Amino acid sequence: MDKIVILDFGSQTTQLIGRRVRELGTFCEIVPFDRFPSEAPDVIGVILSGSPLSVYAPDALLPDLSGILDHYPVLGICYGAQLISFLSGGKVGNSGSREYGRALLNYVNRDCRLFDGIDAGSQVWMSHGDSVNSLPEGFIPAASTDSVRNAAFWNPERRIWGVQFHPEVVHTADGKRLLENFVVGICGSRREWSPDSFVETKVRELQAEIGDGKVILGLSGGVDSTVAAVLLNKAVGSCLTGIFVNHGLLRKNEFEDVLADYRKLGLNVKGVDASSLFLGALKAVENPEEKRKIIGRLFIEVFEAEAAKIPGVEYLAQGTIYPDRIESRNITGKVIKSHHNVGGLPEHLNLKLCEPLKWLFKDEVRSVGLSLGIPKHMLFRHPFPGPGLAVRIPGEVTPEKVHILQDVDDIFIRSLREEGLYDGIWQAGAILLPVRTVGVMGDERTYDYAVALRAVTSSDAMTADWASLPEGFLRRLSNEIINKVRGVNRVCYDISSKPPSTIEWE
Ligand code: XMP
Repeated sequence: MDKIVILDFGSQTTQLIGRRVRELGTFCEIVPFDRFPSEAPDVIGVILSGSPLSVYAPDALLPDLSGILDHYPVLGICYGAQLISFLSGGKVGNSGSREYGRALLNYVNRDCRLFDGIDAGSQVWMSHGDSVNSLPEGFIPAASTDSVRNAAFWNPERRIWGVQFHPEVVHTADGKRLLENFVVGICGSRREWSPDSFVETKVRELQAEIGDGKVILGLSGGVDSTVAAVLLNKAVGSCLTGIFVNHGLLRKNEFEDVLADYRKLGLNVKGVDASSLFLGALKAVENPEEKRKIIGRLFIEVFEAEAAKIPGVEYLAQGTIYPDRIESRNITGKVIKSHHNVGGLPEHLNLKLCEPLKWLFKDEVRSVGLSLGIPKHMLFRHPFPGPGLAVRIPGEVTPEKVHILQDVDDIFIRSLREEGLYDGIWQAGAILLPVRTVGVMGDERTYDYAVALRAVTSSDAMTADWASLPEGFLRRLSNEIINKVRGVNRVCYDISSKPPSTIEWE
């Protein structure tokens, strides 16, 4: 399949470049700036990303591009454009002040194919400290703005293009068109990438890789592990055993409901109820990190014990997706986020790792799920943390508190669905506060728990805003919770954004 390779120089928007290329129906791989694949028969073009660094910085990333330039069509974005210029003998300089934000193209060279259908006046998004002051030999200006003369340039003979602005962000009005001009017009992509084609190819690959080997997969009810399981089931059927561990900290009825959903999908799944083991181990533990560690350790122990009961297992499958792997990498020395799926599997398991979704972005996982016939309610559910309700019960976790919180959470989530608010929210849940407060019910004084409700909007959980839920909805919800859930007499709504607050309370 035709493929664009994106060399990552550590920009915050490298993933977005990948998203845009995929939206153009073209497969792409994001690789570290110095890891261009040595065998690359399907590569039709290369994009160099931006970077927080300057080409003159002592720690500048200056890979040898001789195997790429003049071999493939190349598009450099921001740092990528400066790098091309720098390596080809042009002059890159500090533009005096960091230029950040909207600018308008005041000139477009009509001979440049990158700008087919894009006219002067089009808005672009700049984010840079350096710019290309004088072009290398053979390069021609392609577009300018008031403050950047060489906002875009190209070398027609060598099939190299550079843009100082960021076509991958939505603020560049014709960014999608520009990338299409490169990927389809210049590189000649046949646009073969689609959820259906992915399923077809991946099923064949998995059959070739696994044959009749046995595979185990930890299922959580989450989107990624569900899609991975259904894909593997299509490829190798009963060779796959899914293991779904109930740690007793799931949502109300979640274990039974999700198991029933899995069975309807024809999956071979073993449900393991280890609630009392987990809740027993959490007794009297108050420290949030300690809780997480206990749950993580027991989870692996239970999973391994179940895996050991299946003879001849060769593969451990995981629902790792592309952003998990990109976020975990470290291009410029600044780790953005480490991820629990990545970091290798315990060696003593002696299993081969199988990650069928490792090239997919989250929305592509959902599209592949739809193509596989997985019901929407399983694919478009809110994220839920691995340690479950334990991180929503500050202080000691007891079976009584879990039960109360499950009831509150159930009313909250059901109400969001009934009022049509669920899909507009990234994530919602309730927190049981470790305080009791005084109230009155009828003629009686009560002394019960307070709960907090949290609902946020977000696109990736890295930042989040509290969701502005309708007042009438909150009023009805609070009444229902206090009237129906024994042990709760007060409801608060969390109005903190991330940062500085996190989505979970622990
Ligand atoms: P925070 O609380 O850091 O959460 O703003 C960001 C996203 O990550 C989820 N989360 C977790 N997921 N194990 C998980 O699998 C965890 O320990 C964990 N902690 C937080 C959280 O629900 C949100 O979606």
